[in-house]
Amino acid sequence: MFEKLLVALDGSPVAEQVLPYVEPLARDLKAPVTLLHVLEPLPEEVRAAYLRLSLPLEELINVTKAQEYLALHARRLREAGLAVEIQTITGHPAEAIVEHAQQRGFGLIAMTTHGRSGVRRWTLGSVAEHVVRASHTPVFLVRATEKLHRVTAMQRLVVPLDGSPLAEGILPAAQELATRLSLPVLLVRVVTFPVTIAAWPEGQSYIGELMDQMQREAESYVEALTQRLQKSGLQVASHVVQGEPAGEIARVARGKPGSLVAISTHARSGLQRWILGSVTDKLIRNYGGPLVVFHPPAERPAGP
Ligand SMILES: Nc1ncnc2c1ncn2[C@@H]1O[C@H](COP(=O)(O)OP(=O)(O)OP(=O)(O)O)[C@@H](O)[C@H]1O
Ligand SMILES: [Mg+2]
Repeated sequence: MFEKLLVALDGSPVAEQVLPYVEPLARDLKAPVTLLHVLEPLPEEVRAAYLRLSLPLEELINVTKAQEYLALHARRLREAGLAVEIQTITGHPAEAIVEHAQQRGFGLIAMTTHGRSGVRRWTLGSVAEHVVRASHTPVFLVRATEKLHRVTAMQRLVVPLDGSPLAEGILPAAQELATRLSLPVLLVRVVTFPVTIAAWPEGQSYIGELMDQMQREAESYVEALTQRLQKSGLQVASHVVQGEPAGEIARVARGKPGSLVAISTHARSGLQRWILGSVTDKLIRNYGGPLVVFHPPAERPAGP
């Protein structure tokens, strides 16, 4: 896994905010990098007009421009000691990025949450949104910011778990990533207040007791996983907190600079195609640091 890195660049400075992360990532993963730009095909009637007037096809001009642009960034990354290739393809950006990664066996797609249209809070650009939802290749996602932000070296892999087997599905990949990046792992479990029970008039008296019991269960759950992961030689710690999952996971990760959050697109509520689990969705929108988004193994088609 994580053998080759595909970096999607739309030509905007916002999208380039992924590059400072690509350098240490590719170095630690000892993975070659491909910088990819997808050219949107010219509308047919425009193309026909160009041909009729035997004007040089804009597409061709754009290809050259795109290759020159990618070559510039490739040169910088090569100077930093990385093996870098550039690639331009034609197609609809989101689908083309997902397909290219799948077909060429890339282990990780790296991109920013926004690109040419600029940074908007709490949202994702349409290409990023589609890639995160549809890609079976893990996505290293960097939240783009208006002003360039200082990149903090990655110092730990935060792995949120809700106790479901589906959420645990990312552990083998997270374990491999932590091992290859030599990062300690922090397992995070959030115990959520059972609102349904709180609604019962007589439920009130049970709440405290129930929360304590859920806390104890969660602690023994992460303790068992911690010991299991430690056997593979990883440094592992765990954290059980109470509250709203996405908010608490983001708070824990923000509280420790250099946290890379590894999260699965779906967990307890199961696989609903094309929609992200609500916690993942909120985390991608609210957590300001880098994330790696995995599709649970169950959903992965037979890859190359
Ligand atoms: N044509 C493309 N080729 C390669 N990467 C692309 C292309 N278009 C977008 N991307 C990548 O997708 C990421 C998010 O960009 P996206 O297009 O989703 O945001 P946006 O331009 O701000 O929003 P929108 O396109 O929805 O107006 C960026 O990292 C960008 O490099
Ligand atoms: Mg865009």
